[in-house]
Amino acid sequence: MSEGEVVASTPGLPLTRRRAVEELRALGITPGTTMLVHTSLRSLGWVVGGAETVVLALEEAVGPTGTVVMPAFSLSAPEPSRWVAPPVPEAWWATIRRDWPPFDVDLTPTRGIGVVPETFRRQRGTLRSVHPTTSFCARGPLAVELLREHSLDFGLGEGSPLARLYDRGAHVLLLGVDHSTNSSLHLAEYRADWVGRDRRQEFAGRIVRGDREESVRFEDIEGTSDDFAELGREFESSTGAVTVGRVGAATARRMEQRPLVDYGVRWLAEHRPRAA
Ligand SMILES: CC(C)(COP(=O)(O)OP(=O)(O)OC[C@H]1O[C@@H](n2cnc3c(N)ncnc32)[C@H](O)[C@@H]1OP(=O)(O)O)[C@@H](O)C(=O)NCCC(=O)NCCS
Repeated sequence: MSEGEVVASTPGLPLTRRRAVEELRALGITPGTTMLVHTSLRSLGWVVGGAETVVLALEEAVGPTGTVVMPAFSLSAPEPSRWVAPPVPEAWWATIRRDWPPFDVDLTPTRGIGVVPETFRRQRGTLRSVHPTTSFCARGPLAVELLREHSLDFGLGEGSPLARLYDRGAHVLLLGVDHSTNSSLHLAEYRADWVGRDRRQEFAGRIVRGDREESVRFEDIEGTSDDFAELGREFESSTGAVTVGRVGAATARRMEQRPLVDYGVRWLAEHRPRAA
């Protein structure tokens, strides 16, 4: 949807920072909250100030004692043989593997997760974990603790910021998106007994550390978010643990991450095939 279409479909007045903070508070986001946020800017209707305003409203809602976290996923360990959207000719694969730039925590842009996390990543003082594909950004008192250790292997598992958010009793906010992008459910994939947890994918890339580049190899499970939307819907209807409200024109959902992940572990074990 173009920006013009967003303007045309916005009911009433556009969303301001002040109204966004009020609506976030009405969702139960209080000062001091630690919160992982997934967003679609256009779903909010036209916002005065766009992504910057959304970032500032989220930070204001949790206040100086709260911590905002967003995914900062990137493609710095490319495996073009696995690309589907779009696929690239096989004749290009070797060139892509050789010439792709290394992951640089300051330079590497986010990819496919929206303009709000990309804007947040570039805000002065925002920290980013070091991972070529599944880094996270955070700012606030818990940012260092949440991002300090990010295991290259199993990048959304026990050695990731997702698990540190779990330890800290964080909240998840879905702003105009459904559970299909609810990354915390990946943590449940590592904890549940299902067949993909025992399968491995290999990755190779490079990382800038100081003034040097380091080649890295790492592995991950064969995760998938294909059933996360259904899982999330059932979590909502069977637990009542999701607060649903509006921010601008968007449906917003706030939940505690721990019960979500714990429910996800049980649900995945029941709904996905198990290892033979
Ligand atoms: C993919 C995704 C980001 C697309 O959402 P989106 O709203 O279309 O994209 P963005 O958030 O980047 O916002 C950009 C759009 O905002 C709109 N826009 C521009 N200015 C705007 C304004 N001031 N106010 C509101 N919308 C505006 C434009 O239509 C723009 O689209 P365009 O770049 O095609 O012109 C979203 O669907 C999603 O999945 N978000 C969650 C991602 C995530 O956290 N994933 C975790 C991985 S498991």
